[in-house]
Amino acid sequence: MKITIIGTGYVGLVTGVCISEFGFDVTCVDNDASKIEKLKAGHCPIYEPGVEQMLRQNALAGRLHFSTDAVEASRNADAVFFAVGTPSSDDGEMVDLKYLHGAIKEITPVLKDGVVIIVKCTVVAGTTRTIMHMIEKMRPELKFSVVSNPEFLREGSAVDDFMKPDRVVLGVHDAHGRSVAEHIYRPLSLQSTPIRIASLEDAEISKHASNAFLAMKVTFINEIADLCEKTGANIIEVADIMGLDERIGDQFLRAGPGFGGSCFPKDTRALAAFARKAGAPQMLVEATIRINHARKIASAEKVIGALGKPEGKTVAILGVAFKANTDDIRESPALTIIEELLNKGINIRAFDPQAMTAASKMFPDVTWSPDPYEACENADAVVLVTDWNVLRALDLTRLKSIMAQPLMIDLRNIHRRKEPAKVGFTYISVGREIAEPSSEPTDLKGTRLTAAAN
Ligand code: UGA
Repeated sequence: MKITIIGTGYVGLVTGVCISEFGFDVTCVDNDASKIEKLKAGHCPIYEPGVEQMLRQNALAGRLHFSTDAVEASRNADAVFFAVGTPSSDDGEMVDLKYLHGAIKEITPVLKDGVVIIVKCTVVAGTTRTIMHMIEKMRPELKFSVVSNPEFLREGSAVDDFMKPDRVVLGVHDAHGRSVAEHIYRPLSLQSTPIRIASLEDAEISKHASNAFLAMKVTFINEIADLCEKTGANIIEVADIMGLDERIGDQFLRAGPGFGGSCFPKDTRALAAFARKAGAPQMLVEATIRINHARKIASAEKVIGALGKPEGKTVAILGVAFKANTDDIRESPALTIIEELLNKGINIRAFDPQAMTAASKMFPDVTWSPDPYEACENADAVVLVTDWNVLRALDLTRLKSIMAQPLMIDLRNIHRRKEPAKVGFTYISVGREIAEPSSEPTDLKGTRLTAAAN
């Protein structure tokens, strides 16, 4: 079976590499020639653990190819996956389908009978059906099928998520499309991955609804964290207790500076706008979008408030990626925080283990440093914005000794609440009481009286 993947972003590249690992002959296509050159040389253009090694192995085995020529790569394909970008449209709400429609128009003239078009991009309900009608109109004689196959992988753990997914969703229109798509995912179904066969629209909505639900869950716990701060409760304990209820589950209950990335923000906006247009407004999703935007600004205000007189102060920002294990900064809370701090006349020094190349282009006024300690030298406050492991492993005593003021604002609750305070930091986190150096109530043996070590 010959498979072509159009678009080598996170989803397209990981899909291509993993499907070639299944043993299929795969060609990944992108119109960015420099990206294709890199891939041909065995280099992964994104930071995504595990992809590069798998890419090299499969290319070496002759199963994985790269090309800029979508037409040639699709001519003899049995299945063509579409994983091109679907950016927000100019109004920032709906998605712009110009790349998807453009690619369909480009390759349709050369498609062979029996081909299956598989839409992996996140699209609103009805998009795959529209594509089917476009192809029918261009090639009335062509025998083809369409499948909607939304992807649920996360950046940072994409290979694992692809190889061991909770489910594979196949929105199908006919038996041929179903059987080809089922054949491609057979290595996963043999390992007991649930393969859900659905209608085209069920598949499309399930993707938007899943992302919106998770975004809402994060937003919910963020608001509960605010309540914890007002009442002396501890969000880590509260979230743990909630998560023990299997109906709720313990994932996506980590309070923080708000969600970012290329998916949750864009997908919630698209779902809300589409649903409004369809006459079924999604009030919870609309509120999630508003609250998350406000949360990023409130996180900046938390830092500004902690500084007292902010102007002329120096703040070290550690972590700018929207989450750990990625170099992606799209809609990262760190961007809003840096912007708000710069507006207040605060000097910023910043560090990120992977995302500095992209971020330094956006913020030339920030002093970028390849080392977290160097970024903190003489700083009046250090702000932890991304949950990188390297920030968990910081030597807090060393950090305090090089800073001008011992003030730490941990927007990801990376550290145990009392540990930075133990070495002399004023420690401000999310949904937990501020910990002042040695202010903890203890019994006669020096043990903290309140239960939470968190
Ligand atoms: C998300 C979904 O989780 C994937 O299932 C989906 O395939 C993907 O979007 C997509 O549509 O392509 P991703 O954007 O990679 O994946 O990142 P997540 O791990 O979901 O995190 C999203 C945001 O929520 C991040 O900013 C993260 O820091 C934040 N988050 C997540 C929290 O603040 N708290 C949590 O407990 C979990």
